Amino acid sequence: MLGSGAMFDSIANFYDNVNTLFTFAQDKQWRDALLEMSLTPPTLGPIRMLDIACGTCEVMAAAASSYTIEKIVGVDPSRNMLSRCAAKLPPQATIVISNAEDFATTEKFTVSTIAFGIRNMKDREKAVCNIWNLLEEGGRLGVLEVSYQPAFSLLQHDSTVLRVLISYFIHYVVPIIGFVVNGFKNFAEYKHLVDSIETFPSPADFVTEVLNYKCSGWRHIKTTERNFGTIKIDVFEKIKLED
Ligand SMILES: C[S@@+](CC[C@H](N)C(=O)[O-])C[C@H]1O[C@@H](n2cnc3c(N)ncnc32)[C@H](O)[C@@H]1O
Repeated sequence: MLGSGAMFDSIANFYDNVNTLFTFAQDKQWRDALLEMSLTPPTLGPIRMLDIACGTCEVMAAAASSYTIEKIVGVDPSRNMLSRCAAKLPPQATIVISNAEDFATTEKFTVSTIAFGIRNMKDREKAVCNIWNLLEEGGRLGVLEVSYQPAFSLLQHDSTVLRVLISYFIHYVVPIIGFVVNGFKNFAEYKHLVDSIETFPSPADFVTEVLNYKCSGWRHIKTTERNFGTIKIDVFEKIKLED
């Protein structure tokens, strides 16, 4: 099914390279920014981190190389994506095959991150509320996601030709590049990856959506944008009971 762990199983071998190609190698800087915003300044003692939709473990590897982390757990439903992790991870890291919506553990974490993963989740509210349950009070959730809404709304005031060209690039050129790099396979999967960006809420709507979830004990504490607002990082804090 498109967007699921099974879909990522089929593109896992080339995922890191294709991602670097599509983002003109900026993906690492965006993950670093997510970590900096989510992990500093430290508020809760030793870092116990949960990376949701960890994929090939790029976020976990970056975190382990730059921060002192007591424990890191990565969660993802795609066995093939996770199979790319072993060489990158430090000994204190663990990976678990699971959807974000269903992941269960008795441990509590001080921070959770999701990089380029939330738009693939079938039930975003269930996933975010599950993370809320797994965080300590005062713990943080940092979300890095792509949104083309700002670009599309800019384009609405622009010439039709430019709009058609950019739309054509996003919907066809990008999946064709993915298809070719992946050995002339998986056009539908790459097309889904870009189409799902268009249907993801605008940056402002996403924050409102999270604050209206049934586990509404979140505070939105930090935000930043890159690339004309098409890359957005939001950090939420689980509200302390006494606040
Ligand atoms: C675009 S990749 C991002 C991987 C990684 N976080 C990164 O920075 O490159 C999206 C990941 O979301 C995972 N995924 C899909 N549905 C999910 C769900 N319901 N819960 C958790 N992860 C999910 C996929 O298996 C895939 O590894």
